[in-house]
Amino acid sequence: MATKAPVLICPAMNVNMYNNAVVKENISRLTAMGYLFMVPGYGELACKAEGYGRLPEIPDIVEEVESILTPKDLRGEKILVTAGPTREPFDPVRYITNYSSGKMGYALAIAAKRRGAHVTLISGPTALPTPRDMTFIPVASAVDMRDAVMEHLDSATVVIKAAAVADYRPSSRSARKIKKGGDGLDLQLERNPDIILEVGRKKGNRILVGFAVETENLVENARNKLKKKNMDIIVANDVTKEGAGFGYDTNIIKIISADGKIENVPLMGKMEVADRILDKVKKIITGRQSAPRRRPALRDK
Ligand code: CTP
Repeated sequence: MATKAPVLICPAMNVNMYNNAVVKENISRLTAMGYLFMVPGYGELACKAEGYGRLPEIPDIVEEVESILTPKDLRGEKILVTAGPTREPFDPVRYITNYSSGKMGYALAIAAKRRGAHVTLISGPTALPTPRDMTFIPVASAVDMRDAVMEHLDSATVVIKAAAVADYRPSSRSARKIKKGGDGLDLQLERNPDIILEVGRKKGNRILVGFAVETENLVENARNKLKKKNMDIIVANDVTKEGAGFGYDTNIIKIISADGKIENVPLMGKMEVADRILDKVKKIITGRQSAPRRRPALRDK
């Protein structure tokens, strides 16, 4: 009661106690006064009863605290993030994919959510826990991802394409497991849709952020992609550097804007990198809001 800081209460008790009318009323009174509550977890309770009453998982409490303490400078934005690899099957038990872990895309989705944005995360298969408080759409192949992105594009104000989309998929998918035969096996591949290219064509006023994963000519290749795909920002990632790219918890990037400016972001955690990228997005939003409106043309007399 003495603190001026936000207060988060994480109730943990017997389920009947939690559902008790007096407790419920007190929780609503405290909520009306500005105290913050988490809903307890479901499961077996200390008294062996089952129901809502477990202390929420510690990582969830930490995430809630992070969220409460983050200024909401992206409130009102609807941010669509794609993350992870895609999986391109060629029989019921095998697929081709890439090394993307999804960590950078998930960090962007979580950071945007903490900053007050409404987030939709469209994710290829990853080993990461599903983030809370956002719309989560799991997909597998590039074609699935394309369909999900197009379905959710209308309502988005910002699109961040952090997914490592497979450029090619097997031309045919055997209904049965392919048995081994001769010494070799030829796999015919065909092009996948370029999702960000399609988004770039339809983007309207949306801010479009893409990634460029490169092993050579980083800036030149990234700039070409930004132009070709009509992006506002491209995050260039040299995956040959130690600590950068797939699988790491850290990244080293260059943020390149459509006006040609480059911001070098040195080695840091992916959450911090995510915030740097979102700072750039915020700058574009603020710039657009404060841009002087074009004066109405003078009418001929
Ligand atoms: N991307 C996409 N759909 C694809 C391939 C890529 O939306 N089929 C997006 C990625 O999410 C990323 C950006 O395009 O934001 C650049 O991806 P990258 O693989 O580096 O570039 P490509 O254009 O595929 O070029 P290349 O593979 O020839 O380097």
